Amino acid sequence: MPDADTIRTVTHTASGASIQVHPYGGTVLSYKSSAGRDHLFVSETAILDGSKPVRGGIPLVFPIFGPPGSATSTMPQHGFARRSTWVVGREYDTAESAGIIFGLNLKDVEQGRGEQNIWEKEKTAGPYDCSLELTVDFSATTMTTTMTVKNTGVAAFPFQALLHTYYKVNGNAALNKDQCFVKGLEGYTVTDKVIEGAPYAADSEPIGISSETDRVYAPPAGKDVVAVTIGVGDNETVSMTASAGANDGAAVPVSCVVWNPYKIKAAGMADFGTEQYHDMICVEPGILGDDTVLEPGKEAFLKQVMSV
Ligand code: BG6
Repeated sequence: MPDADTIRTVTHTASGASIQVHPYGGTVLSYKSSAGRDHLFVSETAILDGSKPVRGGIPLVFPIFGPPGSATSTMPQHGFARRSTWVVGREYDTAESAGIIFGLNLKDVEQGRGEQNIWEKEKTAGPYDCSLELTVDFSATTMTTTMTVKNTGVAAFPFQALLHTYYKVNGNAALNKDQCFVKGLEGYTVTDKVIEGAPYAADSEPIGISSETDRVYAPPAGKDVVAVTIGVGDNETVSMTASAGANDGAAVPVSCVVWNPYKIKAAGMADFGTEQYHDMICVEPGILGDDTVLEPGKEAFLKQVMSV
């Protein structure tokens, strides 16, 4: 079991910016820009011993978004990537940027594969196989996280992937719409997982948090790259863009999830500080369609650029 001692800290000498990444889940826990401020939220009760996915930072979602039972599988919510111990690879520190690379091979995945699906343990030597890589590259005011997936088997497989990013909101301002908001998703098709109903088109109002919020924003036809501005308190904003591709270059449209558990759900989560829904907003770019398939020998990527 990994523990807090295995967390990797990487510093960009030229700018003083730094990151922390937990090998469990390949979870980025912290990005401190050169100004010294941490831009990621990790719950005060997050569990870091590898017994449960980390509640905060950037958990990696692959190969399903969930919830369980929504696809053909008994796989747990968000899949196995965030429940596996990734192998630490190369680390670098140059004048331009610093970074670290992590890898994960399906054969090493023990938890979260589910049963009676193409990823179940019994099929390890079967037609479905993959390897994942996470690159975290950063400098003074920008962090880029890229997850790549390679189909190392002989059969094509469907997949979903997400960078489940928890932004830290300063001044407990997550419920203040002037301070905490998401702009840039107008025209996207919204599926609201809290107020179930027909999908609708997002208007141009900035998205704010005033109750439990759990929405999937799917892009309009022809819009592959997501680009949003996120209000994070103290009159500061973060710009986030995300892009994706599969099968040697074909662009894949990127959806975006906006999530804040609010009071009741926060109180019900053992690893979420009771009042901490005031301190975070999740804005999660991802490949969420039901029809993205990776062909044997091919790669897919999901890349998020965060500028503070
Ligand atoms: C979001 C989902 O991506 O993650 C929510 O849209 C979910 O439905 C949230 O509650 C947190 O998920 P988990 O499995 O980490 O508690």
